[in-house]
Amino acid sequence: MPNEKSFEAAQLASDTVLARIQEHASDYTMLTGDRPTGRLHLGHYFGTLKERVRLQNLGMPTNIIIADYQVITDRDTTEHIQDNVYNMVIDYLACGINPEKTMIFTHSAVPALNQLMLPFLSLLTEAELLRNPTVKAEQEASGHALTGLLLTYPVHQACDILFCKGNVVPVGRDQLPHIETTNKIAHRFNARYGTVFPEVTGLLTASTMLPGLDGRKMSKSYGNAISLCMTKEETTKLIKKSKTDSERCITYDPENRPGVSALLSTAAICLGREPEDIADEIGMGGAGMLKQYVSAAVNDYFAEIRERRCELMGNMDYIREVLAEGNKKANTIANATLQEVRETMGMVY
Ligand code: TRP
Repeated sequence: MPNEKSFEAAQLASDTVLARIQEHASDYTMLTGDRPTGRLHLGHYFGTLKERVRLQNLGMPTNIIIADYQVITDRDTTEHIQDNVYNMVIDYLACGINPEKTMIFTHSAVPALNQLMLPFLSLLTEAELLRNPTVKAEQEASGHALTGLLLTYPVHQACDILFCKGNVVPVGRDQLPHIETTNKIAHRFNARYGTVFPEVTGLLTASTMLPGLDGRKMSKSYGNAISLCMTKEETTKLIKKSKTDSERCITYDPENRPGVSALLSTAAICLGREPEDIADEIGMGGAGMLKQYVSAAVNDYFAEIRERRCELMGNMDYIREVLAEGNKKANTIANATLQEVRETMGMVY
């Protein structure tokens, strides 16, 4: 995590850009992405997907990378990668991403994007790479040795952002060190060789992070996440077996009642209400009533998205076409940027 002071500065930059976007969306370019390690869940939806759709519909050029090379930063296998990638495309489209407006693509299909890694790596020192707190945290969580790719993936992420001259990057707080790395690379490249790259701002959209059903960080590996692809029944079942406590009266108290409070937060975000309000309403109704209430809120909110998801699942040719089209466009842009980089560096033969 970045320290409080740099976090405040990042929040300020984010707020400034957010205020300007309303009127000047087309002056910016959004780039953001996901690792295809599993299905997208409610945390992704309320944390970033919803905001991506909003920016897209405001008229901002929007780009989404499915970061397949990031999967092997801390894993030894690419098992299920194709399935994960296609399902991610399905989730995006079901949530309202429009492939006519938003370019969706993968790392591995865009060689020129990856080639930017070479000049970019020359712009940072070993000490700077080792200082990234998110990389450290990810390495510890994975129980893996620090691979060369895990150490340098923030540089690769700078390639993701800069190849299309992205300057607005919706991210969670944990990704802020990577935005700093990206700006360092852009500044140094521009100063050393000539101006090619823009200044990048991380958009900190999710002010409150939605916890998993047990109150811990939402994660598939904890079994506390409601995936977008779950059915109504699966959702209800997962909520039903989530852990609450023995106190009957429902109150919102995240510290002492993590399970109950996470359920309240989940319903609140779906209904656009305050968790305290919902707690008051349920009161002595107890955990059973709370769970029914949360299931209804989630299932109602996601009914349409899930219906669209099912339709898209039945049309895999279309899904493959969307990705092929996105990859084609991304190659055109990456080739042009790489050419500009070579020319700026005098590497023209
Ligand atoms: N590292 C991001 C994550 O784990 C995913 C990602 C890949 C990304 N490339 C990106 C995010 C570029 C923003 C910009 O969520």
